[in-house]
Amino acid sequence: LAAHLTVDPAFELAPVRDRLFGSFVEHLGRCVYGGLYEPDHPEADEDGFRRDVIALVRELGVTTVRYPGGNFVSGYRWEDGVGPKDRRPRRLDTAWHSTETNQFGLHEMAAWLRKTGGNELMEAVNLGTRGLEDALDLLEYANVPGGTALSDRRRANGAEDPFNIRMWCLGNEMDGTWQLGHKNAHDYATLAADVARGMRQIDPDVELVVCGSSSHGMPTFGEWEETVLAKTYDLVDYVSCHAYYQPHDGDVASFLASGVDMDGFIREVGAAIDATKARLKSGHDVAISFDEWNVWYQGCEPSKVPEGIGNWPVAPHLLEDVYSALDAVVFGDLMITLLANADRVHAASLAQLVNVIAPIMTAPGGPAWRQTTFHPFALTARLARGGTVFTPKISSDAVHTDRYGDVPGVDAVAVRRADGGIAVFAVNRSQDAAADFEITLPGQAGGAGYRAVGALTLHEDDMAAANTLEHPDRVIPRTNPTAAFAGDSPEAAPTVRVTLP
Ligand code: AHR
Repeated sequence: LAAHLTVDPAFELAPVRDRLFGSFVEHLGRCVYGGLYEPDHPEADEDGFRRDVIALVRELGVTTVRYPGGNFVSGYRWEDGVGPKDRRPRRLDTAWHSTETNQFGLHEMAAWLRKTGGNELMEAVNLGTRGLEDALDLLEYANVPGGTALSDRRRANGAEDPFNIRMWCLGNEMDGTWQLGHKNAHDYATLAADVARGMRQIDPDVELVVCGSSSHGMPTFGEWEETVLAKTYDLVDYVSCHAYYQPHDGDVASFLASGVDMDGFIREVGAAIDATKARLKSGHDVAISFDEWNVWYQGCEPSKVPEGIGNWPVAPHLLEDVYSALDAVVFGDLMITLLANADRVHAASLAQLVNVIAPIMTAPGGPAWRQTTFHPFALTARLARGGTVFTPKISSDAVHTDRYGDVPGVDAVAVRRADGGIAVFAVNRSQDAAADFEITLPGQAGGAGYRAVGALTLHEDDMAAANTLEHPDRVIPRTNPTAAFAGDSPEAAPTVRVTLP
């Protein structure tokens, strides 16, 4: 397999926005309880937050955190989660057939985010069982400095300063029949437009995300975007995309090409945005918030929710997928796809963060560790943040897939880093052939050349290899010794060659 990437300095696509490295914390399984928050854990701090998890979240390099759901938010009463903990009610969480104890809520989330390095909170409002009034109440509680009933209630609850939340999701996956309070596109669009207008009357600086489709394959995809954007276009800043990938019927070749589907999804939503903008003759721009993406083995055992009228466990083990080296490769390609579309995708949230389809796992009372997918995320965030994406100019031999036909065997994108260096992210989608990958770099100012080249590769001969409690560092990125400048020295506009196993 051979592939070539030309990094052309004349074709800069977009800045790498920090929000591209967002994540997602839902009240689901052991994400919050037993993940972020475990007061009787030896690593717990004075707030009950696990210090070991905070350290890993910092290392992962996440920025924005979407909260509190997900499907959970469509039945959530935000006020249950504020005020004295001993007076907070226990409630049914119908999305995940669990008991919500409300020991963790908005104040705890804000405090936890401060400890992870000041990450941004992206709050979702409940447009399932609730609507306009509750969304406005939550915004008043969160963002109004004081002097009103709800803002003063926040202050009385210990937060003198407003939370000043900028980014708000107008509900979650409202196109899905599984969603509590699911709506058709017209009804949702009318509600979302009302809520958006009302929220802006309180705080004109909020950035609003309207629900797009919960997957590329939804029967209503396309029509949903058209209807929803027609009614909300000038009132919102983002439309959401959600996508989860897994092998179907053992088709690993197609699974490895999941980035092709994500790329098509982004392009098609981009086309819907452009068509709406043209039809409305609007001067306003709407971007994509890809606010749920990951590999997720849906329908498999870990995703089966509890059942029974008398069975509502607290923080059950749910969606605790164990990721393999194969999953990490697909995951890396999804990150490349998000970067390669950084002109459209201004925000993204890896779903999710801890224990639930997560890069970070914890044992109750025990250690925390990095899943295989932790590594591509952490490396990409570390190397790309603050940079500028180049328009990908790649030619590659093809590999065949049953789902997507022939697709490029290598996918790649390059970023000019803030320090002037170039970071290239690449994935080999072939199951059996190594790729000879060549990169033509731009010349450096004054013909200064490049000082060094280095490569890290996540590869395992056993693609099912995974990181577990017993073997937490079984799969890690390793130095790829094949990366080298072609020719004698790293002259201006040199070529780099590397073998992708
Ligand atoms: O991330 C898990 C679930 O996937 C979320 O709650 C929901 O929004 C999506 O269907």
